[in-house]
Amino acid sequence: MAEAVLDVRHQPKDRAYAQLQAHMTLVLAGIDDDIAAMATMSSMLHYGFRHLWTGFYRVAGPDLLRVGPYQGTLGCLEIVFGKGVCGTAAAERRTVIVPDVDRFPGHIACDARSKSEIVVPVFGRAGDLIAVLDIDSERRATFDAQDAAGLERMVGWFAGQRRG
Ligand code: SME
Repeated sequence: MAEAVLDVRHQPKDRAYAQLQAHMTLVLAGIDDDIAAMATMSSMLHYGFRHLWTGFYRVAGPDLLRVGPYQGTLGCLEIVFGKGVCGTAAAERRTVIVPDVDRFPGHIACDARSKSEIVVPVFGRAGDLIAVLDIDSERRATFDAQDAAGLERMVGWFAGQRRG
């Protein structure tokens, strides 16, 4: 068990995500449990980058997301598909990067300190949407295509490793 917390804040993003990916693969080896995996990824990403909020909203109904494992201040409990950044990513099944949350109509402000955001859809083995990964930053324009690529690869665990 590799128990050290990786601090990747001062690494170039490609290296940061490669290190977190390698660590995650080790830590989650032999695990087939969505909650364990989501909790582990939330912790690694949150303490790796020290963002404001890092966590998952799980698909809880035909058009409903419900908060899952996360690190940070209280997140809103439920989000309907199509609402906010999370609901948009879920409805459109694509990664959404918001450089300035004040310019995203319908942004749901769970924490007023949030200034920018990325939301990545999480798919199961059959291509079904099972959750979204949401990361909020206190700085504007924190996230870019490198974050999208690194995070999409990381949540690819759910399509590749879990049985369902
Ligand atoms: N800002 C998100 C809501 C989730 S919280 O930020 C944790 C949104 O607009 O979907």
